[in-house]
Amino acid sequence: MKSQEIRETFLTFFKQKNHQIVPSAPMVIKNDPTLMFTNAGMNQFKDLFLGNSPIKDKRIADTQKCLRVSGKHNDLEEVGVDTYHHTMFEMLGNWSFGDYFKKEAIEWAWELLVDVYKIDKNRLYFTVFEGDEEDGTPEDTEAFEIWKAILEKNGLTTDKILKANKKDNFWEMGDTGPCGPCSEIHVDIRSEEEIAKIPGKTLVNNDHPQVIEIWNLVFMEFNRMADGKLKPLPAKHVDTGMGFERLAMVLQGKKSNYDTDVFSPLTSKISSITAVPYKNTLDATLKTDVAIRVIADHVRAVAFSIADGQLPSNNGAGYVIRRILRRAIRYAYSFLNQKEAFIHQLVEVLSEQMGKFFPELVEQKTLIIQVIKEEEESFLRTLEKGITKFEDYIQQAKSKTIDGKFAFELYDTFGFPIDLTQLMATENGFHIDMPSFTHELEQQKN
Ligand code: ALA
Repeated sequence: MKSQEIRETFLTFFKQKNHQIVPSAPMVIKNDPTLMFTNAGMNQFKDLFLGNSPIKDKRIADTQKCLRVSGKHNDLEEVGVDTYHHTMFEMLGNWSFGDYFKKEAIEWAWELLVDVYKIDKNRLYFTVFEGDEEDGTPEDTEAFEIWKAILEKNGLTTDKILKANKKDNFWEMGDTGPCGPCSEIHVDIRSEEEIAKIPGKTLVNNDHPQVIEIWNLVFMEFNRMADGKLKPLPAKHVDTGMGFERLAMVLQGKKSNYDTDVFSPLTSKISSITAVPYKNTLDATLKTDVAIRVIADHVRAVAFSIADGQLPSNNGAGYVIRRILRRAIRYAYSFLNQKEAFIHQLVEVLSEQMGKFFPELVEQKTLIIQVIKEEEESFLRTLEKGITKFEDYIQQAKSKTIDGKFAFELYDTFGFPIDLTQLMATENGFHIDMPSFTHELEQQKN
């Protein structure tokens, strides 16, 4: 099933269950001091959960452009190194605002995955919240019973239901805000031989690249207050989020999100421009593959942000975008031997592939290309000198600590975001003296 069809199928399914289909909110958030970017489908509905806005549609579904690069939900370090985390990704979601609750949310999730998408039921696992003493939240026996009934009806046992703690099964938007216990659906896409050797249930929530969470069903019941206490919400709601790219991997029988048709046009284009083959290996030490994945991921984040009105800049959300792009440029430079700007050429491929569903990519294409090209050219003017300096520094270093003053020089004179220097330090077994870097930064501000 092509990714376009996977998305449509999700939306049609929930439309038939009387959900209003709404467009994705912008990925860039302008009016919430706690959040710079949309990091979950529910962000745009925060006030509905809290009871601060009137509920018009009690059932909604959409696909939401999300960016997880800062704050509580930050996946940046994993991107490219593994095969299933992204900076920008689509979250397919359905919501109930004071309408249906656990039973329908769980039953529909099963129906969609097993009956509609035809995922092998034997490969699915379900987690439920085990309760938390500190918060005074009980074990979610209701979710357990609902899963149990479904499994028994389908000839399976409760062996597939796993209990998990607050870290994995109590979802929170941030330090404060709407939250609640959740039930996740995980899928095991390993080969039959591997499954015979190690049962999938032992690998759930264990960072295995082929036993992964695809859908999170959150039962919103509380508001986490600034003092850490939970306050019940005025009503109970459902908030679900399914990783579109992961779902595509499962349905297209691939072992990596990057091998799906969401990413492969980009990885192919990168390969053809750079003349570096994409070996398609899951080996994280193969730097050329990591670089190709990083660039394919990062160009999406940057292009969609620009389309949403966020240009790269020196502060705030703009600096986040600049950092992501500079990270991609450096990967291309160091591991794909790209000394000239080329990432902007990928925007054409992206807009061709995603523009039908996200017309903003087509409408803003010229601007996106121009901005990325200028950013690339500007950073490439200082990147080489900065890298040479960095290499000289680590060669002469007497310890494994990089002085904050030097990291600051790279930042200030050569435009190296600190997380880029950190990445390069880690690659070489070094670390940065962060307090001293922060001190330098503060001094510059004063
Ligand atoms: N809000 C939930 C999540 O982001 C669905 O996982």
